Amino acid sequence: MDSSSRPRYRVTYVIGSLATRSINRRLAQALVKLAPPELELHEAPIAGVPLYNYELDNAFPEPARAFKQAIADADAVLLITPEYNRSIPGGLKNAIDWASRPHGRNAFTGKPTAVIGASIGKVGTAAAQQHLKGVMNYSDAVLMNQPEAYIHFNEDAYSADGSVSDPALAKVLSGYMAAFRDFVVRVTTAGTAEAEPVAVRRS
Ligand SMILES: Cc1cc2nc3c(=O)[nH]c(=O)nc-3n(C[C@H](O)[C@H](O)[C@H](O)COP(=O)(O)O)c2cc1C
Repeated sequence: MDSSSRPRYRVTYVIGSLATRSINRRLAQALVKLAPPELELHEAPIAGVPLYNYELDNAFPEPARAFKQAIADADAVLLITPEYNRSIPGGLKNAIDWASRPHGRNAFTGKPTAVIGASIGKVGTAAAQQHLKGVMNYSDAVLMNQPEAYIHFNEDAYSADGSVSDPALAKVLSGYMAAFRDFVVRVTTAGTAEAEPVAVRRS
């Protein structure tokens, strides 16, 4: 199959940092460059999304409406999170709350979703990712469990143009995105004629 006839999957990615020099934005740029051709990545920005208030459930402010629409329009979601005080940055959690509401109109329901993140600490956002996965499970997303990716950010591993200069990191990140592509295909085609046949072992 040549690349023009491959199915394409729209992935909305969310960066949980507002900082212009965010290391998670650097990670996101690298992931976009290393993604397989079947994945089309588009950012849903959280900057400008106001604090969630359920009294506005029937009149979303524009940035919150646009954020939720970007999740709703996606075939899959990629969350790229910093770790703040061993948890999810408030701005990211707030945006997720908007997209999950009102009750019964949750944009995450059934969405294939993956979580990754970079920190300057050696834990590589492991604590934040565990919290975020709990939130996304409750929000009815379908989470990719493996591979996990806890990125300890090292400035020297990235080039100025956003690409990854360290071959070992490039291998980890491209493997992660290839696994995400496979996961998205599996979840979105499960039970359809395009689904890969599953080998059944009989004892
Ligand atoms: C409020 C705050 C809390 C932080 N807490 C943690 C933490 O719990 N674990 C960690 O590894 N790094 C922590 N850091 C350091 C972040 O890893 C570092 O600031 C990183 O650059 C944040 O990602 P970003 O640049 O994409 O925003 C914290 C930073 C801030 C500003």
